[in-house]
Amino acid sequence: MAVFFSCNQKKEKNTVEIQSIKNENEESYRPQYHFTPSEKWMNDPNGLVYHKGVYHLFYQYYPDDIVWGPMHWGHATSKDMIYWDRKPIALYPDKNGYIFSGSAVIDFENSSGFGSKENPALVALFTYHNMDGEKAGRTDFQTQGVAYSLDNGETFKVYEGNPVIKNEGMKDFRDPKVFWNEKNKSWTMLLVAGNHLQIWQSKDLIGWKKVSEFGKNQGAHGGVWECPDLFPLKVEGESEEKWVLLISINPGAPNGGSGTQYFVGDFDGTTFTSKQENIKWLDWGTDNYAGITYNNTPNQERIFIGWMSNWSYARDTPTNTWRSAMTIPRNLSLKEINDEYQLINYPIDNFKNLLENAITKTVELKPQAEEAVVYDHFNQTQITFTTKARDFKLNFKNNFGDNLLLEMNGKENTFILNREKSGKVDFQEDFASIQKMPIGHLPKDLIEVKILMDWSSIEIFINKGQYVMTAQLFPNENYSQLNFVNTSEADVIFNEIKLEKVKSIWK
Ligand code: FRU
Repeated sequence: MAVFFSCNQKKEKNTVEIQSIKNENEESYRPQYHFTPSEKWMNDPNGLVYHKGVYHLFYQYYPDDIVWGPMHWGHATSKDMIYWDRKPIALYPDKNGYIFSGSAVIDFENSSGFGSKENPALVALFTYHNMDGEKAGRTDFQTQGVAYSLDNGETFKVYEGNPVIKNEGMKDFRDPKVFWNEKNKSWTMLLVAGNHLQIWQSKDLIGWKKVSEFGKNQGAHGGVWECPDLFPLKVEGESEEKWVLLISINPGAPNGGSGTQYFVGDFDGTTFTSKQENIKWLDWGTDNYAGITYNNTPNQERIFIGWMSNWSYARDTPTNTWRSAMTIPRNLSLKEINDEYQLINYPIDNFKNLLENAITKTVELKPQAEEAVVYDHFNQTQITFTTKARDFKLNFKNNFGDNLLLEMNGKENTFILNREKSGKVDFQEDFASIQKMPIGHLPKDLIEVKILMDWSSIEIFINKGQYVMTAQLFPNENYSQLNFVNTSEADVIFNEIKLEKVKSIWK
């Protein structure tokens, strides 16, 4: 591994036409430490549940093409949410329709009768999308179905009485997230219905009753509501507990296309309410969508996984054998900052087990000066540093002339990701975007900046997950240089810039 630091290094444009970027598996753009299916199309994470030492990751999957099609549930398992085993397809389309997004629970008390108390069923609840119904112009083509597994997700049996929730004429009626509700000892299901959330309840996971609604006049409504989630979090450093509602919306995200908003409020067991006036986003980048959290985690942690793409161009990204990846699993927590609740998301601790070969260097820069870090593994790296600076640029470059620019602008209180010249961008008109994130509530002192780059993605965590941006990238070759630029009129220090190569999870 080569690494050295030099001032104002000259960029040489490579004159040879370089083939698209290859990773160590000789496959263009294949992430090495994020989950991808071995081949074909993937979208939303589904049925995130922990059971008997296994973290399940089901996902929207189309096994016959690298564009969206008749949806199945793909399946992967892990003991630590870092290394994944790819498993056979869990759920196939049936007479009721394609298998859209949903969730999974463990029926410990055997309320459904599917299993027993000794061997509780893993129950999947999902949306059926009936294509014939949609094509015929009907509005009742999305219904909710149930399937269960008695061998911890290896095989599933589809419930004969499906669908368990019919549709009374709502074109968009989907994505059940189910959890056990201790407050009234029943199962709670969140469903999105076009522009709002519905809450349903059941004693046995089969018979369901609608009990409340939320959101017709609250939050962002630039697009249809999708993939809800609702869970309690303790406010950090206080005894107070609040409930957080996640709602993905498409389109209508702050930087275009798909994005995930959240509401902080209260849940009395039946109804969710929130006094929140601002619209809040879990991640400001263009590529973190349809994320949900794990049910039944061993220590009550709230762990989130999102789909690293955007419906604006998900079908067009320049990969050949598979399409798209999941975010790194992130731990969610809640803080009160400037009298507002803020959802924090940050890589889970286990991620550090993948880090090797740390190289550490402090960079001090005079006003307007810059310094280059040259490193041959930027595309499979974690970069971490702390700084008091609020006006700087980070400029990733390669010998092809590609350029990914990150900029913190303290005067305007914004953080910018500019991927206009980051590599292949013209496969779809919305991709070459400049993405902006307001960072007005950062503390005045040292903050940490953490960047995870994995061949075709970047995840940026500012102040330990207070502000987060996730974006896809398709550079023409590996980035090999990172310039730190001081854009202020004062001296700045980037403390202990740490470059850590991230191990591949596939070897
Ligand atoms: C979100 C979504 C869900 C739906 C699924 C279909 O990305 O549109 O609402 O269930 O994808 O694949």
